[in-house]
Amino acid sequence: MIFPGQNSEALKKAAHLICSGELVGLPTETVYGLCADALSDQAVSKIYSLKGRPSNHPLIAHLFSKEEIKHFAIDVPDYANNLIDRLWPGPLTLILKKIDGIAMGCTANAKSIALRCPAHPVAQALLGECRDLGVWGLAAPSANRFGRVSPTTAQHVHEEFGDSLFILDGGPCEVGIESTIVDCTRGQPIVLRPGVLTIQELSLCAGQQVLSEQDFSRLLSPLEIKAAQAPSASGTLESHYAPKALVRLLSREDLLLSFSSAVTVSIKLGIWSQEKVTSKSESERISLFWRQMPEDPQVCAKALFAQLREFDTIGVEEIWVEKPQNTQEWAGINDRLQRAAYTGTEPR
Ligand code: TXA
Ligand code: MG
Repeated sequence: MIFPGQNSEALKKAAHLICSGELVGLPTETVYGLCADALSDQAVSKIYSLKGRPSNHPLIAHLFSKEEIKHFAIDVPDYANNLIDRLWPGPLTLILKKIDGIAMGCTANAKSIALRCPAHPVAQALLGECRDLGVWGLAAPSANRFGRVSPTTAQHVHEEFGDSLFILDGGPCEVGIESTIVDCTRGQPIVLRPGVLTIQELSLCAGQQVLSEQDFSRLLSPLEIKAAQAPSASGTLESHYAPKALVRLLSREDLLLSFSSAVTVSIKLGIWSQEKVTSKSESERISLFWRQMPEDPQVCAKALFAQLREFDTIGVEEIWVEKPQNTQEWAGINDRLQRAAYTGTEPR
């Protein structure tokens, strides 16, 4: 059931559910999360089974403020503290060294833990209520079934899990794609999953250069690379964030060319592009649903998952997406689009 997130009774009920080891659907500024008490392995195991997520894919623990870090992580490097001071609350997750022996379910037995302090007022309110009841953090993956498109509205969460889940409604998510993940356990800050924060912005806030995985590997010898293996991140599986329809990611030229030459096929087609595409008389057999891709990367990120879901609701067979430019501002969007378009069966 969906409840208004600003309502104090609903918030109290949600906090009570969390304290009794149950799950709650929660808005954050990035995407909606499916949350449980991060330090209760029993509660966290319900997240894995409801999502259908393999139990070796660790979750992010969400905190009310940086004060709660001490319940989860130790040896926080200076550059991580700089990132926290400048970017929390916000769409940034840090991988830090975990306190030994805690949150085994949330971290899938890893030695590190992913921590994030979300800015959404409803997330803040629930985290505050829970903290006052002695729950220091909420484990929350995106509130979708494993491998599917992340939800950016309370209705999306309801479509995924139905009436039995208690969902707090906080409106459509402002950011729209998942948080940027920065690994702070390998001596230098390394981006594991791009989001809306650019490397330049992150480096400025960290007070030192933040590296991409590729930059980091280039700095190491092959032996060192093997020893410094990145912690596994399920958001880095190739096939992720996938709608039901087949997604094709095409340059503007290829998209227009494919469309004009696809006159003989009969297909229900969704196109998301900056360039307007209209049905021509020769392509009557194509049933076209064109939607404009926003030109601003932040507006585009906000619209991305809802757009993929809308095409699935219409029931298109294929979704053709105009490939955005290859710049830092578009890195998070390009990453999600590539995963949505991946058709192989092998995870990376
Ligand atoms: O914006 C977000 O990050 C959203 C909202 C709900 O906060 N959450 C989210 O969670 O995207 P999820 O579970 O869909 O993605 C979490 C990512 C996964 O790729 C997971 O592998 C990675 O974080 N992760 C978690 N713990 C990790 C660890 N100790 N080391 C490396 N990666 C980790
Ligand atoms: Mg997810």
